[in-house]
Amino acid sequence: MNIYGIVMAGGIGARMQAGEAGEPLPKQFLTLGGKPILIRTLTGMLSYEGFSGLVVTCPAEWQERTEELLHRFLPDGSSRCPLAVTAGGQERNETLTKALAYLDQAYGLQDEDLVVTQDAVRPFLTRQMIAASVEAASVSGAAQAVIPATDTIVESRDGAAVSGIPQRRFLYQVQTPQTFRARRFQALYRTLGEEEKAALTDACSLFVLRGEKVSLVPGARENLKITYPEDLAVAEALLARQEGAPGVSPGRNSGHTPCRRAE
Ligand code: CTP
Repeated sequence: MNIYGIVMAGGIGARMQAGEAGEPLPKQFLTLGGKPILIRTLTGMLSYEGFSGLVVTCPAEWQERTEELLHRFLPDGSSRCPLAVTAGGQERNETLTKALAYLDQAYGLQDEDLVVTQDAVRPFLTRQMIAASVEAASVSGAAQAVIPATDTIVESRDGAAVSGIPQRRFLYQVQTPQTFRARRFQALYRTLGEEEKAALTDACSLFVLRGEKVSLVPGARENLKITYPEDLAVAEALLARQEGAPGVSPGRNSGHTPCRRAE
């Protein structure tokens, strides 16, 4: 069994609104503690020793600049496994299917091979999270990192009034890494109609939609997704805490958050 990694960096970061109006800057290229967020996430992926190959996706017009960044921050020989950059698609799922097609062409994916996908804008990924995700997916076929929901979540069918209140103790927030059998994903994806494809939010949803098991593995509150400008400010503070900046004391709960709640 081979394990491959995909860093999902094909988005444009519309909600972050970084860069100039004429030349928007996708958020994965913003710096965090002086380094591009994408490089921090990629470094997190490279801390896992089990990859046979890693592919970094990016918006098509950013391919050259992404390759340059990788050369600058990860000079030849500093990666444990072959590293490639490939253009993503308009939608996240399109980016994923393109990256899988790249892996298939480059390595010839086998039925048992696993792929670990990670959002480029979750720079606090750890080796342990990847290892736990791979271990769970190698048994069940698919696994995703989650944290227990902390806010009560209400449902509204019309956007005006509450139509349902799911019990919070059964709710989790989905993070990445998500790990799954690459060829199984491709086979299931081919069974989707256009509407189902448009409604699909991530890879693991496809397994659930087709009645297949997706295991939960512990994510971490620190494994946050940088979406809005204020998330970047939180990420800078977390990084300063991790790096032991003077005057910033580590919190008591900086370890992984268990998936299961205390009874
Ligand atoms: N992503 C991707 N390809 C896309 C869209 C998103 O690879 N076509 C990636 C993003 O680069 C990001 C991750 O998926 O690392 C999570 O998506 P999100 O936070 O929604 O990123 P964006 O789509 O870039 O943000 P926005 O929705 O604000 O435009």
